[in-house]
Amino acid sequence: MTQRVSIVIGGASGIGLATVRRLHADGETVVIADRNEEGARKYAAELGAEALPVEVTDEASVSALITTVSERHGGIDTVVDCAGISRPGALTDLAAEDWRATVDVCLTGAFLVVKHAAPALRPGGSIVLIASLNATQPGVAMGAYCAAKAGVAMLTEVAALELGPRGIRVNAISPGFVPTPLTEGAALVPGLVEDFVANTPLGRAGSPEDIAAAVAFVASPAAGWMTGSNIALDGGAHTQRYPDVLQHIAALAEG
Ligand SMILES: NC(=O)c1ccc[n+]([C@@H]2O[C@H](COP(=O)([O-])OP(=O)(O)OC[C@H]3O[C@@H](n4cnc5c(N)ncnc54)[C@H](O)[C@@H]3O)[C@@H](O)[C@H]2O)c1
Repeated sequence: MTQRVSIVIGGASGIGLATVRRLHADGETVVIADRNEEGARKYAAELGAEALPVEVTDEASVSALITTVSERHGGIDTVVDCAGISRPGALTDLAAEDWRATVDVCLTGAFLVVKHAAPALRPGGSIVLIASLNATQPGVAMGAYCAAKAGVAMLTEVAALELGPRGIRVNAISPGFVPTPLTEGAALVPGLVEDFVANTPLGRAGSPEDIAAAVAFVASPAAGWMTGSNIALDGGAHTQRYPDVLQHIAALAEG
């Protein structure tokens, strides 16, 4: 059997790093690609994996990553895009620059990954995008992130439609709240995580490993008939409501 080759973009932290560890444990050759080169190199050294730099908003950078891995390993089976940022702010206060940065990394980055990964994938290969609970559930002060992630969910469907005839599968995973460096700021707002958990039927936040397990399944041949799906992975939080971060901050200010 040919050794499976995976690239995890945004693999130097949080959900991406857990995905790297999971795919590595499953016996795959894993390339950690991140704009945080130092972090990528550190975890690659720890695992005996490979690290490459990538800036997901830069088309030449994404293209170079895919070409390098393809040439080095003779093919790619899976590309997972975990690169993401969040710049919170109410729509009437949000700087256009913060809107653009969020959409650029979360949505345009995902488009560039699909565009350049798809032609390089081996038959049966797949792309996994990380959308969010916020692709379908609105959150106060999260307009840029929600809009970008809703875009990722639809991008997943169009990509599945276009690439299915070539035997390429494209799916998204939509996590609820997962403690990672991305959510460190939110976790500092008293009561916010508790509010999320109170609105989560399974009664806890997620772990990066919860998400990595789903990514590993979706990318594997066991999910060979799955494409264009956006999997809610949120302890059931999509059945309820998202915490109002501004209300929590106001309560904090009132003491
Ligand atoms: N943590 C959560 O609660 C949560 C919930 C839903 C969705 N998500 C999504 O999951 C994905 C992973 O998030 P995380 O929580 O692990 O965050 P994280 O901050 O821990 O990791 C994100 C990684 O992406 C890299 N990155 C960011 N911008 C990049 C760019 N322009 N080019 C290349 N690399 C870049 C960072 O260096 C970092 O290593 C993101 O798309 C995020 O939006 C996270």
